[in-house]
Amino acid sequence: MMSQGLVTMSYIGASILFILSLGGLSNQETARRGNYYGMAGMVIAILATVLSAAVTENYAVLVVALLVGGSIGGYAAKRVEMTQMPELVALMHSLVGMAAVLVGYANFLGESDLTGVEKTIHEVEIYLGILIGAVTFSGSVIAFGKLCEKISGKPMLLPARHYLNLMLLLGSIGLSFMFLNGETQDESLIALGAMTVLALLFGIHMVMAIGGADMPVVVSMLNSYSGWAAAATGFMLNNDLLIVTGALVGSSGAILSYIMCRAMNRHFLSVIAGGFGSAGGQAAEVTGEVQPIDVAETVQLLREAKNIMIIPGYGMAVAQAQHTVNEITKQLKAKGKTVRFGIHPVAGRMPGHMNVLLAEAKVPYDIVFEMDEINEDFANVDVTIVIGANDIVNPSALNDPNSPIAGMPVLECWKGETTIVMKRSMASGYAGVGNPLFVLDNTRMLFGDANVKLQEVLKALQE
Ligand code: TAP
Repeated sequence: MMSQGLVTMSYIGASILFILSLGGLSNQETARRGNYYGMAGMVIAILATVLSAAVTENYAVLVVALLVGGSIGGYAAKRVEMTQMPELVALMHSLVGMAAVLVGYANFLGESDLTGVEKTIHEVEIYLGILIGAVTFSGSVIAFGKLCEKISGKPMLLPARHYLNLMLLLGSIGLSFMFLNGETQDESLIALGAMTVLALLFGIHMVMAIGGADMPVVVSMLNSYSGWAAAATGFMLNNDLLIVTGALVGSSGAILSYIMCRAMNRHFLSVIAGGFGSAGGQAAEVTGEVQPIDVAETVQLLREAKNIMIIPGYGMAVAQAQHTVNEITKQLKAKGKTVRFGIHPVAGRMPGHMNVLLAEAKVPYDIVFEMDEINEDFANVDVTIVIGANDIVNPSALNDPNSPIAGMPVLECWKGETTIVMKRSMASGYAGVGNPLFVLDNTRMLFGDANVKLQEVLKALQE
């Protein structure tokens, strides 16, 4: 068994590694290193906790639990497709929430020799831990259902929903007094149980009211909640590392939510209040003539172009076209063209989705640009290739106030000379809205699976 001093030292070391990990993840070039720091921190954290005095001597149970949990986690992570990552993350958050609830109940029902103020503080920790944990749990399960399309992505807007939320909140506050002042343990337990039900309902209602296009923000917000739930568990268990790690996850999730809200021009509170954009009228219908293009013409346009922009979206991930895109980029650069990538902050289905795919295909970082860096530059672009992107290049976000994605900044590719949009059909994207870009005069549609079509383009370019 480790001495308390050694455990504390290990916890400090693990906390530092977690902070370095977060720092590393903020940049593509250092992201891999960041992951290694995180893994090392986690190994130290688990070992120090398992070997500390706080943990049962019953190691057999612990080892079995670690093996079962570790195998399920390892299997899920190995099997999951890149496009299903947000679902997996949502599911993981639900587990953190559930753990906080279970630890809370175990703490409440277990023996305690605390009295007076200390007892009250401990009970408040339990109450808050269960409250945040239950909201995180049910909210994450609904987010999971919405992301894997088992539940409709449309916002569910109950009449007087804000009052309902307010009542749930007031109910939870009221029950907290019952819980703290309960004459017997049973009385407090009833209050705790009732609050848990209210918190679960609140989580369900909160996420059900949020529309598909706002899901990224919700996932990162739930990420933040799961951090606070872990921090609350840390207070309950008197575990400093859990408090620090929970606070790191909680605050970085909150910052990411804020950054994403800014990228989508949403107010954080209006996302949380739910149903953004659904109160207005119908989004305008898209009418006009579509101009298809074939591979030979596409290659012709590329050969003539000097300045080329590539905008990848969710469809590139589905088609797994990133490697072909990289080969095409090499070909075009070898022919003296300027090729750049324009990345929207919410392209794909998770933060950084496109950056991860392009990095995997070894596209050089210095030609990959954020939306803000290149949006002004489209006037100088000869050909833009939109690969399986839709919502992030939808002009109605800027000029149709009734559109569900109104106000979201988009990549303004239509300001360039010609835009070639690659997709399989005229189907809408994640937000379920029509896209007037597809019928503009300077837009051509190259229909088909992105990877199949790009391979044909590559072959023609190589000839
Ligand atoms: P989307 O708007 O979802 O559009 C993707 C397009 O790809 C679809 O219109 C689809 O059209 C096409 N596509 C699918 N498979 C294809 C294939 N094999 N080959 C060619 N095309 C294919 O994607 P986006 O423009 O990247 O925008 C992202 C959306 O997801 C936003 O609304 C965003 O808010 C939301 N969202 C983002 C995140 C994060 S954090 N990035 C998380 C959750 C949700 P066809 O079916 O016609 O081929």
